[in-house]
Amino acid sequence: MHLTTLLTAAIVPFLGVRAAMLRFSCSQLVVDRLDPLVNPGQVPSPHLHQIVGGNSFNVTMDPNVNDISQTSTCTSCQFTEDFSNYWTAVLFFKARNGTYKRVSTVGNGLGYSASNGGQTVYYISNGAVTAFKPGFRMVVGNPAFRTQAEARTNPALQFTCLASPMTRSGYRYDFPTDTCAGGIMVTVRFPTCWDGKNTDSPDHQSHVAYPVNRNCPSTHPIKIPEVFYETYWDTRPFNNKALWPADGSQPFVWSFGDKTGYGNHGDYIFGWRGDALQRAMDANCNSDLIQDKLNCPTLKSQTIVNANKCSIQRKVKEDLDGWMKELPGGGME
Ligand SMILES: *[C@@H]1O[C@H](CO)[C@@H](O)[C@H](O)[C@H]1NC(C)=O
Ligand SMILES: *[C@@H]1O[C@H](CO)[C@@H](O)[C@H](O)[C@H]1NC(C)=O
Repeated sequence: MHLTTLLTAAIVPFLGVRAAMLRFSCSQLVVDRLDPLVNPGQVPSPHLHQIVGGNSFNVTMDPNVNDISQTSTCTSCQFTEDFSNYWTAVLFFKARNGTYKRVSTVGNGLGYSASNGGQTVYYISNGAVTAFKPGFRMVVGNPAFRTQAEARTNPALQFTCLASPMTRSGYRYDFPTDTCAGGIMVTVRFPTCWDGKNTDSPDHQSHVAYPVNRNCPSTHPIKIPEVFYETYWDTRPFNNKALWPADGSQPFVWSFGDKTGYGNHGDYIFGWRGDALQRAMDANCNSDLIQDKLNCPTLKSQTIVNANKCSIQRKVKEDLDGWMKELPGGGME
């Protein structure tokens, strides 16, 4: 990196560059075997997901048929103009006897512990950004990845072994190998550059790209907010090593049959109403939580207790709570 670049990077914050960070809780909307992005119309989809956000989440979500920012009547997120849907795979514990138990999510220790599971969502900007257009959607990560080399093609899909709810060090690309006293945090950061034309692409990825040396590449010149998920998986009930595999390996497995963790991925469908997201980014909102209220005056918000009330019925009827002989859908180990 040139010295001038270093200097610029160091100086810009003092010159009042735009930098926003929306950080808020989105409670669990539903856990279901649906994937309207990768497997639209397929009931059930191959693997189980946890979904948060607006209650228009459905088997198919064609933006030309249904504008979720208008048809949703509630959101499990704290910002009430945000009817986006955010989802990830679901974690399972595989006991020594070979049976699986679903792992629950809990509220993030950053002040969102009142939430009914779900995940924390961030929108971050460093410099001016263009908010997503209606119908925008994207996927990051790949459930077929099983090696670190593959996982590293996405620089920020990571696991943190929580010693306490506030642990923010020791990021890794695969599952932690030992017990985690505070559970496991999974982070998913999406790319921040857009081709400026397509709200989706056949692989749901190639219309966006990661920056190169902090700049968006010429193929994807438009800076978009960084969407970032943090999910707290409550692995604490499974910390009894007598139930862990006899060979000493770690016992957690993603709902798509991945025991490595390298297949970590996330899905996003934009659904903010009107220009609410652009306004918040332009206002440099830094939405700290002040007594259960998010500090971003240009946006409307609700308490976590109210966000917890927004949920939908599962469409695929199958047991998700007992000890199971196989993963829902069988997995793809
Ligand atoms: C989900 O889609 C079905 C049609 O496939 C429709 O009948 C139903 O109203 C939709 N539900 C929601 C919550 O949008
Ligand atoms: C497997 O182990 C779990 C954890 O100890 C136990 O709850 C479950 O009943 C066992 N299942 C079978 C089929 O042995």
